[in-house]
Amino acid sequence: MQKITIAIDGFSSTGKSTVAKQLAKALGYVYVDSGAMYRAVTLFAMQNGFIDEKHFDSNKLIANLNTVEILFKFNNKLGFAEVFLNDKNVENEIRTLEVSQFVSQVSEISEVRRMLVKQQQQMGINKGVVMDGRDIGTVVFPEAELKIFMTASAETRAKRRFQELLEKGANVGYDEVLENVTSRDKIDTTREDSPLTKANDAIEIDNSYLSIEEQYKMLLELAEETISNKA
Ligand code: DC
Repeated sequence: MQKITIAIDGFSSTGKSTVAKQLAKALGYVYVDSGAMYRAVTLFAMQNGFIDEKHFDSNKLIANLNTVEILFKFNNKLGFAEVFLNDKNVENEIRTLEVSQFVSQVSEISEVRRMLVKQQQQMGINKGVVMDGRDIGTVVFPEAELKIFMTASAETRAKRRFQELLEKGANVGYDEVLENVTSRDKIDTTREDSPLTKANDAIEIDNSYLSIEEQYKMLLELAEETISNKA
């Protein structure tokens, strides 16, 4: 069976990673959460004092990028790969609202993008990969056989994200989460380097009113069709 590359792009909290993980599992493909890599670099910048509420020293971050090592290690118990930053498991730490508040600023930096895009392309070199993010179908894998662009209203996404954070025991308010979702949308779509846009050949799916199961079925069908057309 020929393997393909599946690129899933879209706004934050559109449930890209949920469906990408499900698809990878069903197809026996590798799942890569590219946003986790931008989050890991952001955490690195925070830990080293390069970014906080008051300042962002992007030059210092750029000068220290060569000391950042990001690895995904598959956790058999969890059934997905966890993110390691310089040998430390940061899977939970990178998902906090604090990291979310700085991540768009860090992802605007071209040097950061260049480094991560190179690593992402390397991970997909043998195909058989499902990668989600913002520029996967446009920059990382412009030749991907299947490209999906996911959307949902900002309110729907904020509600989902708020629920997730509450379940993790975070002390946050809905308004704060909605504000983070809309401000990230703005930065992600207007940044100069690789802004979030739908690739011409991507299939757009608005999942505001789709259940996780319905969305999964729809994408699996598309993937199977694309794979059999290629064979
Ligand atoms: O998918 P996510 O919300 O975890 O991504 C976090 C941030 O990383 C997002 O706000 C923008 C950035 N990002 C990016 O610029 N390019 C990608 N391919 C993936 C994420």
